[in-house]
Amino acid sequence: KVPNSLWIQGKEYPTNASITNVTSHILELSTRPLHQQKSHPIGILRKLIEDKLNSTDNAYQVYNDFKPVVTVEENFDSLGFPKDHPGRSKSDTYYVNDQNLFRTHTSAHEMECFGNMQRFATEWSRNGTEKPGFLISADVYRRDEIDRTHYPVFHQMEGARVWKRSETGTSEIRGDLKKLELQLAAESTQLIVEDDNSLDGNPKQDYMTDLEVDLCSKHLKRSVELVVAQVFNKKLQSLGHAGEKTLKVRWIKAYFPWTAPSWEIEVWWQGDWLEVCGCGLVREQVLQNASFEKDSAVGWAFGLGLDRIAMLLFEIPDIRLLWTKDDRFHSQFEEGKITTFEPYSKYPGTVRDVAFWLPSTTSQQQIHENDLMEIVRNRAGDLVESVKLIDEFRHPKTSRVSQCYRINYQSMDRSLTNEEINAIQELVRTDLTDEFQLTLR
Ligand code: PHE
Repeated sequence: KVPNSLWIQGKEYPTNASITNVTSHILELSTRPLHQQKSHPIGILRKLIEDKLNSTDNAYQVYNDFKPVVTVEENFDSLGFPKDHPGRSKSDTYYVNDQNLFRTHTSAHEMECFGNMQRFATEWSRNGTEKPGFLISADVYRRDEIDRTHYPVFHQMEGARVWKRSETGTSEIRGDLKKLELQLAAESTQLIVEDDNSLDGNPKQDYMTDLEVDLCSKHLKRSVELVVAQVFNKKLQSLGHAGEKTLKVRWIKAYFPWTAPSWEIEVWWQGDWLEVCGCGLVREQVLQNASFEKDSAVGWAFGLGLDRIAMLLFEIPDIRLLWTKDDRFHSQFEEGKITTFEPYSKYPGTVRDVAFWLPSTTSQQQIHENDLMEIVRNRAGDLVESVKLIDEFRHPKTSRVSQCYRINYQSMDRSLTNEEINAIQELVRTDLTDEFQLTLR
């Protein structure tokens, strides 16, 4: 089934039948970087955030055209992921072969960008081309479930900022922080921030002083808060909540192998905490891997998910709409503007169930739910709205397990015929039995 090699964006990669799991659907999506489209919601949001962060002191070099296939080294090893980290597994990640994969996050480019920064470290200037920070936006890939908010491709923006340590101590960080605080105070939406500021269970790195940790984490948190305040302010305004000028956010401890300490920020939005961004102070080892001299710099990094925020800002009800080619979608958006999406008529959906006995418990084979999702995606593409396990039971005598999945088929752009869905469903059923030792019921 797997060809001997794959051509991806002008490069040929040898494959490996037991590792290669990238599908033709993914290959096709990888040719359509939405963040580069100026009047696509993802592109509009990206630009908005870049401009905001660069409005303080023009400190960020912007990168938007990194190719999606990276090395295992770039995506995992260089960032200190342990060898047995679940993110590395074939059920979570699209592999091209044992050395190349579709990046699972924009952090895969930290090494290269820190490296660029280091090479020009003597020339850092806010107005020149070599800057003390960067912003990388890119499409990222993860095998996942199927529903209105999950899609195997989404978009992130990585941000990072570094200060060289010098005899002048921390005065530079302090000065940069001051500017940021003033700007945040002038925002029309003010944040109510919950943050216990403790490092319990979230330890600092030995090489940094307490003062550096304090100033760097403040600079990081205020930078992320500036983005949140601005983006959500746009939304509050367009909702006509001009009078509503506060927004609740909270900082919680997190863990990432390449930052310490680490946090996540969540925004209280319409009755739920919305996860927006993971971040932390960059580990010394990561800077050294990018050829910074030992202990010569301190800095931070964040990774912001763009799709969920875009859906909320533009009121896009289904993540598949971001990928439609329908002009009734695209004609509604304009560079630089946050507009509310007006749904064109929703086309009726149709439901099909598939039930089967799992391989017996003595069988070697384990079926990961993501593998099943992948089979459906590969056959149905964007005609599948969601796939859900609706029933599961164990036979009392044989103790074999039966599962039933419900597949909701629905197109964003047109009506579906029963014949075409029956044909797709049949292919899904055949693939399931071809690929797994299961028995259809
Ligand atoms: N890459 C992380 C993620 O995808 C986010 C992150 C970026 C965390 C940078 C820390 C620093 O979840």
